[in-house]
Amino acid sequence: MLTLNFANMMEKVIGPNGMNEKTIEGLSLKAAEIHREIIGRRRPELEFMDLPGGDTTDIRKLGGEVRQESENFLLLGIGGSALGPRAILEALSPYHNLRKTPRVFIYDNVDPLTLRHILSVVDLTKTTVNVISKSGSTAETAASFMILWDEMKKAVGADAAKMFIATTDPASGNLRKIASDFGMRTLPIGKGIGGRYSVLSPVGLLLAEVIGVDSRELLKGAADMRLRCAADELLKNPAYMLGSLLYLMNADGKRNVNVLIPYADGLKFLSEWFCQLWSESLGKEGKGMTPYPSVGTTDQHSQLQLWMEGPEDKVVTFIRIDEYGADYTIPGVFEEVEGTNYLSGRRLSELIKAEEESSELALAKRGHPNMTIQIPSIDAYHLGGLFQFFEIATAFTGLLLGINPFNQPGVEEGKNFTYGMMGKKGFEAKREEVEKAREDKACWQI
Ligand code: PA5
Repeated sequence: MLTLNFANMMEKVIGPNGMNEKTIEGLSLKAAEIHREIIGRRRPELEFMDLPGGDTTDIRKLGGEVRQESENFLLLGIGGSALGPRAILEALSPYHNLRKTPRVFIYDNVDPLTLRHILSVVDLTKTTVNVISKSGSTAETAASFMILWDEMKKAVGADAAKMFIATTDPASGNLRKIASDFGMRTLPIGKGIGGRYSVLSPVGLLLAEVIGVDSRELLKGAADMRLRCAADELLKNPAYMLGSLLYLMNADGKRNVNVLIPYADGLKFLSEWFCQLWSESLGKEGKGMTPYPSVGTTDQHSQLQLWMEGPEDKVVTFIRIDEYGADYTIPGVFEEVEGTNYLSGRRLSELIKAEEESSELALAKRGHPNMTIQIPSIDAYHLGGLFQFFEIATAFTGLLLGINPFNQPGVEEGKNFTYGMMGKKGFEAKREEVEKAREDKACWQI
């Protein structure tokens, strides 16, 4: 089971940059109030916490069909509709396309070159396309869907609809309408589930089944984590503690960078997924902390210097793994070389763990707050647990901050300018605004 060690956040351990028990206790009443809001599902968007109890029969059936029928699985989606599936893929089936079929491609951007590369290596007649969009109206996903639909029609003619699975709102939106008009297979994303909280819905679970991961294990891990994070006492609830500690560290506005550094390549994309969850949920009304995705040991040789001696603006959260599921003993070669022979006979897992612990300690010794999440292994059960843990922690932190962690009003303006530029009806004024801004910018160009 997951543990959270926050010794290196405490004044008694790291000195004046740390916090004391009283400050944490001071948050108890507020935390209890938020706890009631969460447990009572007082906001419809808390529906993500009910996903672990979901029935996966349809998803498993569809996953089986894809495994049988397809050489390739092409996922179209962006933001929460792609980051969670990618985190599952990279954690649970690394180097997937070199080892297994169906090969998986995630097209989450509208970079034309990427699409050309994908289309040059997939045979569309043997490809299932999973188009994912909760709203059904996201421009990037709509554009790639329209292109793929057209390409698929050229490839398989009247059978095109059979090659698509649409994952979207159960009743409304353009994607739902197109899917039902053309008779595509569909999976629903529950009404109250927002994109970045949707990884444990069909958004992530179908991909899990396609790559041979039992979606029930992901949900079981999430359900057990939900139980663990249902403790009303702040000090016994790891998700609330993570949120509270980050909130308190950020309270005076000094520590505004939130680094997440798992010591596992497979969790690199969990960091990316977490960054979106944290940024879009909490960055509003001038509040929030900038998340920073990292991976250990790699970023010790890239970022650690900055964390040690740069601005005092960070909190670092390590993720430590007990069992990697593989190991190598470093052989007794080059014995005459003093600089490397200390490694002989040691295991790689010892080295990576020693480096993680050393980084924690080095930061703590300089008074830099850090904490450690520890998990037994990287498998579907524990990954499901991590998803649920971070989702609860993020929602809790948003409610502590007094903001709505489930909306993203800040992205609307940019979308509207794009609509204007792309000629969407009703956005003519936005287009004029862009044209005027272009003229104003011109004199500053060198
Ligand atoms: O978290 C969110 O709601 C967003 O990041 C969405 O996931 C993203 O904008 C994609 O939206 P949709 O799934 O509606 O296409």
